[in-house]
Amino acid sequence: MTNQQSTQQTRTAIVTGASKGIGAAIARRLARDGVAVVVNYARGRAEAEELVRAIEAGGGKAIAVQADIADPAGIAALFDAGEKAFGGIDILVNNAGIMKTSPIAATDDASFDTQIAINLGGVFRGMREGARRLRDGGRIINFSSSVVGLYQPGYGVYAATKAAVEAMTHILAKELGARRVTVNAVAPGPIETALFLDGKSEAQIEAIGKMIPLGRLGQPDDIAGVVSFLAGPDSFWVNGQIIRANGGVI
Ligand SMILES: NC(=O)c1ccc[n+]([C@@H]2O[C@H](COP(=O)([O-])OP(=O)(O)OC[C@H]3O[C@@H](n4cnc5c(N)ncnc54)[C@H](OP(=O)(O)O)[C@@H]3O)[C@@H](O)[C@H]2O)c1
Repeated sequence: MTNQQSTQQTRTAIVTGASKGIGAAIARRLARDGVAVVVNYARGRAEAEELVRAIEAGGGKAIAVQADIADPAGIAALFDAGEKAFGGIDILVNNAGIMKTSPIAATDDASFDTQIAINLGGVFRGMREGARRLRDGGRIINFSSSVVGLYQPGYGVYAATKAAVEAMTHILAKELGARRVTVNAVAPGPIETALFLDGKSEAQIEAIGKMIPLGRLGQPDDIAGVVSFLAGPDSFWVNGQIIRANGGVI
């Protein structure tokens, strides 16, 4: 018996928050790898549908599914849609997330509650649903952030949500080993997406780019390549790990 994923059938993935940014790059990359993809979006319907058309034009398989991962029914709806379209799910990429920065003294309850609901609640429900419904030999890939290890002022709540995701990643890996489902997290450094760029000046963006030893800001495809590895057969022995993909900045 192989320890790895089944090669008998097309592998399938759910990528949360795939209408833009890192999630869209992951959906494109997994489709190129031959994986059928559920492209989840919250508000970006047009972008998600365009991405599905592009994947199909390249010979891949994808569907776009609206779901708010902060809604307890949202993740279940993604699995329902994926199972109906593709027969079962092998890979769950818990990518969707938001970032609101402010000093702790200036953070209101709404900002705290929203980040907890999406970044922690959404990923918890994803992991729970994945633990129950992924096919044996599957993959769960969570999203943390390299800011977890930086303790930078302004990132208190965001970093706390990601630290909690890292803790659950280690624990779920131990809980699912018997089904050969691996659970890992990617912790990107600065990646040039709306989440990173919004609210920063050109000068701030340039300064951050210069701090990165590899000499530029990260791009969504840099992270999609890491996810492709974690989603594929060659990563089977990587389990319960946090992969800090940040150009060497931390
Ligand atoms: N960019 C960075 O520098 C960086 C660094 C470290 C970690 N990360 C992490 O990487 C992940 C992706 O970030 P990104 O930079 O690609 O962000 P982004 O460009 O802002 O994209 C975020 C995606 O998440 C979706 N989303 C937000 N709230 C959602 C919800 N409640 N339900 C479902 N989908 C939701 C958005 O969907 P709609 O647009 O359809 O609403 C969008 O597709 C996040 O977990 C983030 O914390 C990013």
